[in-house]
Amino acid sequence: MGSSVLTPFAEPGVFRAGAAGPAGAPGLAGGPGPEPTPAADLAADRAADLDLDEIEAFYRQHGFVILRDLLGEKLIARMEQECEAAQAGVLAGDLSARYGSTQYLDDAAKAERFVNYVEHIQELAPAVGEAAEDPVLTGVIRRLIGARIWLSGSEQTGVVYQDARPGRESGYTRIGWHSDWQAMPSLDVWPGLAITIHIDATSPANGFLRVVPGSHQWATPAPYRNVNGVPVPADARPTGGYTDTAPPFEMPLGFEKVLGEIAVYAERGDVLLHDGYLWHSAARATDDDTRRRHVRGSFFAGEQAAYRRQFIKNAAR
Ligand SMILES: [Fe+2]
Repeated sequence: MGSSVLTPFAEPGVFRAGAAGPAGAPGLAGGPGPEPTPAADLAADRAADLDLDEIEAFYRQHGFVILRDLLGEKLIARMEQECEAAQAGVLAGDLSARYGSTQYLDDAAKAERFVNYVEHIQELAPAVGEAAEDPVLTGVIRRLIGARIWLSGSEQTGVVYQDARPGRESGYTRIGWHSDWQAMPSLDVWPGLAITIHIDATSPANGFLRVVPGSHQWATPAPYRNVNGVPVPADARPTGGYTDTAPPFEMPLGFEKVLGEIAVYAERGDVLLHDGYLWHSAARATDDDTRRRHVRGSFFAGEQAAYRRQFIKNAAR
């Protein structure tokens, strides 16, 4: 992690891939550029600039990292365009119900007026699949959670395109404290991590991620107490985390301040990896005319055969 003369808290956990960047390097987008370099060379260049030991050490300690300038603006621009087309297709009713989700919304009826989510976006937006298979990215993920990783794909929950925005028509503006493990505490698919590819940079204006660094180490209880009154099945593991150490305080049910929490802001194109055991929430936008779009999926390193449908909707919305 680079240090800053301004403050040691500037962009903690941000690691930059190749300064020259892959396809999205300035001057390459759209116009004629230098002779194309073979993809393998580009991947090698990008990987060479990432210190995997440093990334792994930060992740073990804090539970998240951001990989910057990894995918390139060209791929992100394509992703944006493909995702927007899919979103328009869902709203127009042109795409099957498989893609038009309401399960994550605060009120399912709002999906008729605005589409916050497109599920299984990897089937509609080829750029999403390309990004998820990026060899440098998957190399980092193997270092973080285990050698035998698999993406939650078409047989599982799939990758989701999210368009969060404030406003009454929107059914997804924020989410309360949770760990992702709490949504599937019965399954032996863990450890796992969430991957978020940011199409829009985040800020207080359009909403942002809050995390409790180090909370992935705690043995966080399954969400027996939750604001939605959703039952936790009897076969759930009682706790999820990398150690047996109980959290120093209870996870709040809503959006309360948590001691030690930080904001994690992202730039367009950033790839955020956060652990499935990490406590996190998302703050609502303060500016009504903004949006916060990203593509979000999960990689697991546990047993793929142990996957079955489970979604305990414990987090406040
Ligand atoms: Fe989450």
